[in-house]
Amino acid sequence: MNHKFGSITVYVEQDYDAMSSKAAEIFSEEINKHPEAAFGFATGGTPLGMYKQLIEMNKQKAVNFSGITTFNLDEYYPISRDNDQSYYYFMMTNLFEKVNIDRDKIHIPNGNAADINKECTEYEEALTASGGLRMQLLGIGLNGHIGFNEPSGSFSRATHCVQLDQSTCEANARFFTSVDDVPRQAITMGIGTIMMSESILLLANGKGKAEIIKKALTGPITPEVPASVLQLHRNVIVVLDKSAAEGIL
Ligand code: PGA
Repeated sequence: MNHKFGSITVYVEQDYDAMSSKAAEIFSEEINKHPEAAFGFATGGTPLGMYKQLIEMNKQKAVNFSGITTFNLDEYYPISRDNDQSYYYFMMTNLFEKVNIDRDKIHIPNGNAADINKECTEYEEALTASGGLRMQLLGIGLNGHIGFNEPSGSFSRATHCVQLDQSTCEANARFFTSVDDVPRQAITMGIGTIMMSESILLLANGKGKAEIIKKALTGPITPEVPASVLQLHRNVIVVLDKSAAEGIL
């Protein structure tokens, strides 16, 4: 079912698999319509089902990745690319190694860069030089973060280095041996970078996300809920499972 919250279109699907299928359908259509454009990718548990579907669709030649350029939202810092908790490793193993993508056109912030600020500047420049993003995929944190833009007093602009919130480290600790092993810093696209994307596809599933989805889509626009800024974007699609939509229906 399809609902409108201001300019945001929200699809509510029966369960995680249906959410993933809908998201894969929307994202692949956009790739097929703009086969040479740049697209923004996300990590986390939420998009995994969608990535599985995209791999299947690519095998069946229903989506062609060969001409696109990719930019990921964020990466831990410091972390090496062969660390199985790096977002580089995540993207390669969960999607990029399994589809017909041009490896030279993959961009993920370098979590091992010697100069983190230089890395941020160069990442933003490469994104701008690509002509900008056609569609950015987003998950949402329990605290409303998008990328690693945590709640704060102001909306960030370009790609930058951040200190991670304790709640984010705890939420992500499930992937590490312990919470103490989660890197405390990250490189992330800024809110400004994300908002410049031509379109945005945000996914959320599960009861745990219901409250933050309600705040992000219907609450005040505030940097204390970074995802609330999406209310100001003209082309946002949100795909939820029923549980994540509990607060807005
Ligand atoms: P998740 O993370 O998909 O693992 O819930 C989303 C996020 O923190 O942005």
